[in-house]
Amino acid sequence: MHSCEATRLVLAIDSAIKQFWPTCRSAQSDFQASTFGSDIPLIDSDKVTGHTQGEPIGLVIIEVSQERLLSMEIIIQENYTAISQQAAALIADAVRSRPTTVLGLATGSTPLGLYQELIRLHQEDGLDFSQVTTFNLDEYVGLAADHPQSYHYFMHDNLFRHINVPAANIHIPDGTTGDARAFCESYEQLIASSGGIDLQVLGIGSDGHIAFNEPGSSLDSRTRVETLAKQTIEDNARFFASADAVPIHAITMGVGTILDARKIILLANGANKAPAVAAAAEGPVSSICTASALQNHPDTIFFLDPEAASQLQKTNG
Ligand code: F6R
Repeated sequence: MHSCEATRLVLAIDSAIKQFWPTCRSAQSDFQASTFGSDIPLIDSDKVTGHTQGEPIGLVIIEVSQERLLSMEIIIQENYTAISQQAAALIADAVRSRPTTVLGLATGSTPLGLYQELIRLHQEDGLDFSQVTTFNLDEYVGLAADHPQSYHYFMHDNLFRHINVPAANIHIPDGTTGDARAFCESYEQLIASSGGIDLQVLGIGSDGHIAFNEPGSSLDSRTRVETLAKQTIEDNARFFASADAVPIHAITMGVGTILDARKIILLANGANKAPAVAAAAEGPVSSICTASALQNHPDTIFFLDPEAASQLQKTNG
């Protein structure tokens, strides 16, 4: 299951050498066949920034992109602390190398260790979030921001009040909006106008959901109101006085919204997540387990403890 990377080249060819291209191509055939495969796309040199038309440029590599041949990387660590620390280190690297990183964030029990580690990195190592923008995956419909079980409250309590993301850069769906449809459209637009999500953090539901995309959600879905599955209501009852107190609806980013993120990390720990993790990583891509859509994402990493990984066939076999 470990990913294998291939490099895709796009070559620019100037009209001056276009006529010789078959020769150039065959002269490089060994290199191409062994390293990159034979199908290298060509574009004309007038698409190359800074090139003056008419000046020969020969062959110029204008784009090198990483493309995974296998869809996801599975990293199994010895325990929850280790997956939390490794995921936090990855986020810290992203923020250090690009201070304006746009993060997609999750709530629930799973990312708590990750958030504690990010807080430690901020407080002890000076990890700076002052230019970071965040978008949360979801929020319960009907819960105001100051409700102790709202995801607004959770995020402020467990992360934001301990680090220095500016309040104006924090985005969480509004569970009390009077016009959910308009709100969801504007949330999508806000993500797009922020440049898209660079790094999305996910947990996984025991029914295989990501965000609140419950079984049966379209794998193309966008931000919308979703009805929570019975399983999710039972799972999340632990945060409320009873299952009856768990809201029935949530505003959630769609599977399609999540797949637009440039990089995705999914964390899972505990044996109760093992069937969902196996279905997500090794089952068919299906709306029955919306996390399985991550198999079609070019840059996804699962961080798992041994219990959550225990039903993976390819990794364990
Ligand atoms: C939360 C979210 C959910 C959770 C999932 C797992 O924002 O989007 O998909 O990640 O329900 O929850 P925990 O981590 O509590 O097991």
